Amino acid sequence: MTSMIDGQGRHIDYLRISVTDRCNFRCHYCMPEKQTFLPHGDLLDYSEIALLANRFIAHGIRKIRLTGGEPLVRRDIEILLKELGGHVAAGRLDELTLTTNGSRLAQFAPILAAAHFRRINVSLDSLNPETFRTITRGGDLAQVLEGIAAAAAQGIGIKINMVALKGENEAELLALAEFCSANGYDLSLIETMPLGEGVANRQDRYIAMDDFIAPLRERYALSPLAHRSSGPARYWNVAPLGLRLGLITPLSHNFCDDCNRLRLTTDGKIYMCLGSSMHVDFRKALREDGMAAVDKLLQQALRLKPARHDFERQLADPELRLSRHMNATGG
Ligand code: GTP
Ligand code: 5AD
Ligand code: SF4
Repeated sequence: MTSMIDGQGRHIDYLRISVTDRCNFRCHYCMPEKQTFLPHGDLLDYSEIALLANRFIAHGIRKIRLTGGEPLVRRDIEILLKELGGHVAAGRLDELTLTTNGSRLAQFAPILAAAHFRRINVSLDSLNPETFRTITRGGDLAQVLEGIAAAAAQGIGIKINMVALKGENEAELLALAEFCSANGYDLSLIETMPLGEGVANRQDRYIAMDDFIAPLRERYALSPLAHRSSGPARYWNVAPLGLRLGLITPLSHNFCDDCNRLRLTTDGKIYMCLGSSMHVDFRKALREDGMAAVDKLLQQALRLKPARHDFERQLADPELRLSRHMNATGG
């Protein structure tokens, strides 16, 4: 089987595809309050996304995750879900998955199950309806909980993503851990990353993971689990709860040596690292120049993929900060 190796010798077999920069929520750590979205003509259509995905699979991609914005708000998204699901059915992909805000899951759960989505990640930063509404700038917690339950009822594995926010959801970690334990969901805790405008304010919300999980550690023993695959999360078992806990710590414990991924944006750019502005634009090659040009750009992207993110220097020097928000590249 072919596989892709980047300039640092890392195996790249994972593509994250952002299918839209739009979202029906606007979590304050992810999007600015007022956001202008990309014009429709700039977006890759579904046949273009599918063509690129095919090509990348031919080069060794074995796992695809759809992200956004919120992937389930793009019109007719079921067309793409089905198309990509065909690669899983044919054994060309090991895994097809999704990161979602959960608001449309009740409607989409059966479609996802039929398209071979076996696990999904759902952002859920709080179980308190008011705090949830504040963080998401208007989101309805009950709708999300209903969506999660609908996906679980289809047999889809659930991982809850909780961004650690000082003074905002710190006190809720135990409640979220117990909620996940009671329902058989995994839980991932994520340090907030300095992307987009408002970073200076957002840094007031930053809390290092060791501090965030201190209340959990006081109460329960955490034992490390063997590393399941490449990627940022380090997994722990919280034995008394029967909970698998993932910790994503870009700032306090770097994980870039294990990086296995590329990110395709909704307008056809490949970003080689979440924490860098470096990218290669595939749209023109795809629309005008053909697959040989696409292949050439892919080799260029692999060569240029940075060794690691640059968040520390970006935090120290405002000039270096990334204006790109997370909703452009899908986290
Ligand atoms: P898999 O790696 O596909 O199992 O997913 P995951 O459990 O890591 O979860 P997901 O892809 O939903 O990522 C959760 C969050 O972790 C993202 O939304 C980002 O905030 C962060 N994250 C994911 N990948 C990267 C990465 O490559 N670099 C950094 N710095 N953060 C990442
Ligand atoms: N820092 C960390 N994670 C973020 N996400 C979005 N913005 C940020 C940020 N600034 C991640 C969350 C969310 C997913 C959609 O994107 O994990 O669940
Ligand atoms: Fe890979 Fe960049 Fe994420 Fe590090 S920060 S794991 S190099 S994408």
